Amino acid sequence: MQDKPTNLPTTQPNGEPLKPITDVILERRSTNHFTNEAVPDEILNAILQLGAQAPSGYNLQPWRFVVVREAENRKRLQSVAFNQPKVAEAPIVIIALGMKEEWQERADEIFKEGAERGAGSVDTWEKAKDGAVQFLTGMQEMDVWVNRHTMIAVTTMMLAAEAYGFDTAPMEGFNAAAVKTEFGIPEEAEVVALLAIGRAAEPEKAYPGRFALDRIVFSESYGEAWK
Ligand SMILES: Cc1cc2nc3c(=O)[nH]c(=O)nc-3n(C[C@H](O)[C@H](O)[C@H](O)COP(=O)(O)O)c2cc1C
Repeated sequence: MQDKPTNLPTTQPNGEPLKPITDVILERRSTNHFTNEAVPDEILNAILQLGAQAPSGYNLQPWRFVVVREAENRKRLQSVAFNQPKVAEAPIVIIALGMKEEWQERADEIFKEGAERGAGSVDTWEKAKDGAVQFLTGMQEMDVWVNRHTMIAVTTMMLAAEAYGFDTAPMEGFNAAAVKTEFGIPEEAEVVALLAIGRAAEPEKAYPGRFALDRIVFSESYGEAWK
């Protein structure tokens, strides 16, 4: 595995500082239409590097990403994504995958190296790994499990893009089987989401509102008013 990336851009491409996390969260909108402005390679690299830092159960990182940039391939992706215009408009669309089996092959490496890096015990990593594999294969529905983790990475990418001044659109509107066929994706993969990245065309989509906390947050047990 690699160390933390150290050379990521620390400003937006126009030299402005990165957006603070509160602005990132509040200003992010799911973009319906993109301009054809390119996203610099170093920003795309930073978005991917930051997404790869997302947490996952046992650090198993079951996500994989296909980055689609060629216009012809985005058109092909659009045709299996309910023809959503943003898939062809945005300069980058990432196909986010969760691998339901492949993580088992990487479990030894992850547990051993994590222990060697000080995040586990070098004497007991094998036992810990066996316990994890038993827990996951015995008790989890793998499609749910890979979705849980992959969406954290996708969300991290969305927020990273916003911090660098770019816009995103997460999508569930696609035909997963057709996406797999078109892009050579293995059978075991769950197509979790598409993420378009670029610059929003004006006017940007309006804020659609959110529930107030007293409708979604409870205190101590379900149904107890939040105060
Ligand atoms: C996982 C996920 C899948 C989505 N899929 C689509 C989609 O296929 N097409 C679309 O136009 N919007 C899609 N959206 C965008 C939502 O409609 C949008 O997030 C929601 O209306 C809230 O708006 P906001 O993101 O601008 O705050 C999706 C959002 C998420 C989180």
